[in-house]
Amino acid sequence: MKALKAFAPASIGNVSLGFDVLGAALAPVDGTKLGDEVEITSAESFSLETVGRFAHKLPGDTDSNIVTKCYHYFCEQMEKAGKPTSPVALTLHKNLPIGSGLGSSASSIVAAFAALNAYFDTPFDQDTLLIMMGELEGQISGSVHYDNVAPCYLGGMTLMTGSEAPVTLSLPLNDDWYYAICYSGISVSTAAARDILPKQVDMATALTFGRQLGVFVHALHAGNFDLAASVMKDVIAEPYRKSLLPGFDEARAFSEETGALAFGISGSGPTVFAVCSSKAQAEKVAAYLTENYIQNEDGFSHVCQIPSQGTLISE
Ligand code: HSE
Repeated sequence: MKALKAFAPASIGNVSLGFDVLGAALAPVDGTKLGDEVEITSAESFSLETVGRFAHKLPGDTDSNIVTKCYHYFCEQMEKAGKPTSPVALTLHKNLPIGSGLGSSASSIVAAFAALNAYFDTPFDQDTLLIMMGELEGQISGSVHYDNVAPCYLGGMTLMTGSEAPVTLSLPLNDDWYYAICYSGISVSTAAARDILPKQVDMATALTFGRQLGVFVHALHAGNFDLAASVMKDVIAEPYRKSLLPGFDEARAFSEETGALAFGISGSGPTVFAVCSSKAQAEKVAAYLTENYIQNEDGFSHVCQIPSQGTLISE
């Protein structure tokens, strides 16, 4: 019987300065596997089992689960491409909290498509799969954006092109940066966090956004990481979204006092992240966040780096 599994890591959408166009994969430095996993085996008929710490927060019926939707969408695309499929049994290990800002839905979607693509002997190339992943992410969040699915699938820090090939470009990584991340434990729906944003931005904001993104990409390629960090400011979403996040201003203030290079909301929140120049600094910020930003027993903090490896397929 053929069987394999796909692990898809958590990710930071936007990374403060790149609303909808920049994202980064996350890997805790202590080796914790922070991400969802999908197992696939051959079966007589389709089935989906959900297990894991946050499985109880998923919709009760299998048909509403995003992984079921991925399977049906994948089969439709296979049929269009004239390729055969067969029923499979899927198990979703739902390890990421829903509505956390850690790319939870993207992680399930990416793990599902990556597992299906590997199981059916790689019928789709990287860009085709990313477009399929973005489509399903759009069904959940109300808008197609790749800033979680792309880094989750490919690893690293990725910049979306707006084109279908390539969908995304990989940016240089700085091995000296550590990310203190903290999920507060409350749930923020991406659709709701998008609804509170203005539908248009003014000229000054557009110029700042463009200048920052241009400087950031240049600085990473030039290896000038201090310059890169200096433009990691969110002028699009944070001014509106922080009202949804109890303790956000205090957490930002502590992070700045501790000397962190940048601080922001991961995706649509409530997870926040601080970019730190040492592991010790990240541990200090993470300890503060654990003590002061977490709201309930679902919350957690980690010190992470950005892994160059994204989704991992194993037997
Ligand atoms: N770019 C998205 C947003 C990420 O900020 O709404 C959340 O999935």
